[in-house]
Amino acid sequence: MSVLICPSLMCADQLDLKNEINSLIKAGADLMHIDVMDGVFVPNIQLGAGLMQAIKNGTGAPLDIHLMIEAPHGKLGYFPIGEGDIVSVHYESTPHPARVADGIRAKGAKALLALNPGTPLSVFEDISDCFDGLLIMTVNPGYSGQKLIPKTIDKIRRARLLYPDIIIEADGNVSFTTAKEMVKAGANALVCGTSSVFSKEFDYKTSIERLKKL
Ligand code: DX5
Ligand code: ZN
Repeated sequence: MSVLICPSLMCADQLDLKNEINSLIKAGADLMHIDVMDGVFVPNIQLGAGLMQAIKNGTGAPLDIHLMIEAPHGKLGYFPIGEGDIVSVHYESTPHPARVADGIRAKGAKALLALNPGTPLSVFEDISDCFDGLLIMTVNPGYSGQKLIPKTIDKIRRARLLYPDIIIEADGNVSFTTAKEMVKAGANALVCGTSSVFSKEFDYKTSIERLKKL
C-alpha cells in the first residue's frame, strides 16, 4: 500500500476551507486530517464537529480525525464518523482506550491509538488487537509548526518491527526531509502540515507527489 497522505486542515486557509479541500483531493490527498482540540487535553482549541459535518456534506472527503479531547469515551456521537474514516484516540485521554476503539469500529471507521512522544510503545501491547494501528506523535500535540522530536523516529521503527501489518501514522513536523526518515522507519501514513503540503514551497500536487514517491 502506498503512503497515505493526510493534509492537516488546521494548517489550511481557514477562510477558504472548501476550496482548499477540493484542491487537496484533486492533488491526490487521501484523507483530511482534522485536529479536534478541546483546550483541556491540549492547550489549544481547534476544529469542531460542525466543521466535520460540513466537510462530509460539502466535499465527501474521508476524514482522518485526531481526537485531542479529554474523556472521548461517550463523545463519539458528536462526530460524523463513518465508513472510510480513520479516528485516533489518545491513550493518555481515557482509562478505556479499547472501549473507544470498539465505538469507532462500530461506526465502520478504523481506530488508531495515538501516543504522545513521552508515552511508551508498550502501552499498546495488550490492546493492539482492538486497533487498526497507531498515530505516533512526533511533536507534543497542540500546535502546528513545531520541531520534530528526533527519538520518535526510533519509536516508529520499533512499532513497525513489533506490528508489521498495522497502519502507522506519523503526526508532527512531517517535512520532505523528515518524511523520508519516517517512511524508512515504517510509517505508512503521514499527517502533512506547515513543513510540507502547506509550506508554500511547492503547489499541493507537487508536494503530494513528492511525498507519495517516498
Ligand atoms: C499537532 C497536530 C498536527 C499538526 C501538524 O497537535 O496533531 O496534526 O497540525 O502540523 P505541523 O505539520 O506543522 O507540525
Ligand atoms: Zn494531528
